[in-house]
Parts: sequence; C-alpha cells; structure tokens
Amino acid sequence: MHISVPKETTPRETRVGLVPESVAKLVKGGHTVAVERDAGLASGFTDDQYVKAGATIAPDFAATVAGAAATCKVQPVTAAQASALPSGSALVSYWAPTGQPDALAALNARQVRLLALERVPRITRAQSMDVLSSQATVSGYKAVLLGAGALPKLLPMLSTAAGTLAPAKVFVIGAGVAGLQAIATARRLGALVSGFDVRPAAAEQILSLGATLMKLDLAAVSAVGDGGYAKAQTAKQQLDTQGAITAHVKDMDLVITTAAIPGKKAPVLITDAAIRGMKQGSVIVDLAAETGGNAEGTKAGETVVVHGVSIIGPVNLPSTAGFHASQMYSRNVLTFLNHVIKDGNLVLEESDEITGPMMVKA
Ligand code: NAI
Repeated sequence: MHISVPKETTPRETRVGLVPESVAKLVKGGHTVAVERDAGLASGFTDDQYVKAGATIAPDFAATVAGAAATCKVQPVTAAQASALPSGSALVSYWAPTGQPDALAALNARQVRLLALERVPRITRAQSMDVLSSQATVSGYKAVLLGAGALPKLLPMLSTAAGTLAPAKVFVIGAGVAGLQAIATARRLGALVSGFDVRPAAAEQILSLGATLMKLDLAAVSAVGDGGYAKAQTAKQQLDTQGAITAHVKDMDLVITTAAIPGKKAPVLITDAAIRGMKQGSVIVDLAAETGGNAEGTKAGETVVVHGVSIIGPVNLPSTAGFHASQMYSRNVLTFLNHVIKDGNLVLEESDEITGPMMVKA
C-alpha cells in the first residue's frame, strides 16, 4: 500500500504525521511511503532520515499525495488540499476543532474517507492509538515549564549560602492525562503540589504522585458520567467548587488548569474574585484556553495580567516539543494503520469499534 506524509502548513504547527521510525516499520511491512520535502524539519527529522527509512521525498503536496491509499497528517486539510487527494483514498488526521465545512465537502466530493484521530474511542484496546492522551502528556509537562518560566520564583526548596528558599506551591485542577503529567513534572522540579478533580477515582492518582488534595467535600461535588468520565457539575456543585478553589489559590504561586468535559465548553473554576485574592506575581496556566478557559479572563494564545496575576492561555503546546509530540503521534497513527491494513489493503468498517466512531461524514 502507498502512504503519504505531507508537510504541515498551519502556522506554529511543528509536528509531522509520521516520523522516520514509523516509516521504516511501514516499509519493512512491504508498504511504500512518500514524504513531502522538509515535512519533518520543524520537529527535528530531516529528509535524509526519511530516505534512510525507505521513503521517497516529493516536492509539494500534490506530488506527495499522488497515488496514496492513505495520507497521514496532523492538522485538518484545507479545501484545496482535499481536492488534491486521490479519490477513494483515506485521510488520517485531527479534524476538530479546526476542520472546515468546505474542506469536508471537498473530501466528500472526492470520496475521501476522513478518519479523525481525536475520535479514537477511549477504550483500553485503542489506548496506543489515542492522540488526545499522547499529546496531553506533552501539554501537561510543558504547562509546568511555561508557568515556571513566568514565575518570579524558583520551584524547588534550595539551601544556599545566601539562605534557604521556600519551595513554590503549585496547584493542578483536573487530574486527567495532562493534569497528572503536570503534577508529576512539578513534583520533579521540587514544588509543593496539590490537585483536584471531580472524579473521585482521580484522588488516589493525585496522592500516588506525591501531591496533596485540595480541601473540600469531594463526595458533594463529584460529577462522573458515562464510562467513568467527568460530566458537568450542577450549578450548586460548581459554586461550592469555585468557593473551595478561591480559598485554596490564595496561597498558590502557580496554578495549572486542565478541567474539561468531553464535547462541552470548559467549566469556569477560577473566578475573577479568586484571581483578585491571589498573590502578586503568581501565574495561572490555563490549558483549557482553547475551549473557553477554566479561569475568568483567559485569552487563548495570549498572556494577560489580571489583578497582578499572569494568566497564560497556551495554544498547541504539543508543537513546542515537536520531536517527542510527533514521535508519540506517529506511533499512534502507525498502530491505527496496522489496525486497518489487512493483506496490504485498507479495510475501513463502520462496524469496527475503533474505526467506526472515527469516520467523519458530512
Ligand atoms: P479531559 O481532558 O477530558 O479532562 C481533564 C480532567 O478534567 C478530567 O480528569 C476531568 O475529570 C477533569 N474535570 C472535569 N471537570 C472538572 C471540574 N469541574 N473540576 C475539576 N476537574 C474537572 O480528560 P482526559 O485527560 O482526556 O481523561 C480523563 C480520564 O480518562 C482519565 O481517567 C484517563 O485515565 C482516562 N483515559 C482513558 C483512556 C483509555 O482507556 N483509552 C484514554 C485517555 C484517558
């Protein structure tokens, strides 16, 4: 089977759909791979490495995707790119949140089957294909570094000839994949870390990483929906949670928020009054910025200073560690390709519990 890897064109996107390591595995499996010139450069993978892995290098998008049965990308295609994809082929990439209706119409017109990677079902069998998890790992790690860089303090306790420095206090809201990675990273850097999540199951995970729990009656505010995932809190629960957070953040240096409800706007958990009560120079890194933000005043893609507190609203953090983000993304894509390639052909069945939910239709 012939597989293509175009260069990403979205501003600030540094990742690539497949890295040389995965290309080598596909070539070893009897497939051919075309990679657009410099497709991996922004994440640290050279054309030479792709050639050594067995790929051919193509000069532009159209030449790269020509004859491909599957195209592997990170960001959604534009309508013009969609029109260049071979008819009847498959496209494996993110679709939400930036996929455009005109691009989808162009894909449909060419009968290109779109498989959205953010739709990989969150079941154990599909864990190794789950880009939301792999990329959230990078975001959680990077959020701590971003916050640490913006703080006028160091994170660890230090005993120096100039006296002892107290460790910084870090609070992580939402203990899913990104939040747990943020807790682990802040702990490694020596901060005193606390956490909170509406899923009672997360409490044990927070504690197991050496962090403490924010004080509040967890049973009263817990909100667990289908499959053990978070659901939206009731208005009363959200008020109680906001109250506990307002008291807790007074003492914090760095707050990292990751709270999300699948398919919904992010819950506002840090109110303007809570921010007013925080210490001058403290920092909030709001990983929910792209879905509305967990803090009042967060602006996606910007850093704003509110009541002396810097609120950072990062966008596409995985691209700030393009090498490892691409490596994990590519392994996810490769596992998915191995799942759908049978006897050298792409077999996309709606009835398949992984492939079915990933299919995007007009
Ligand atoms: P997410 O990115 O959708 O949400 C982040 C976190 O925010 C979640 O832990 C959620 O409980 C929490 N949250 C929601 N509302 C909140 C509120 N008001 N206050 C505080 N926290 C709030 O979640 P993520 O990281 O994608 O995954 C969540 C769970 O799913 C984890 O238990 C994870 O282990 C599990 N998971 C399972 C997978 C699989 O089996 N294939 C794959 C990925 C995750």
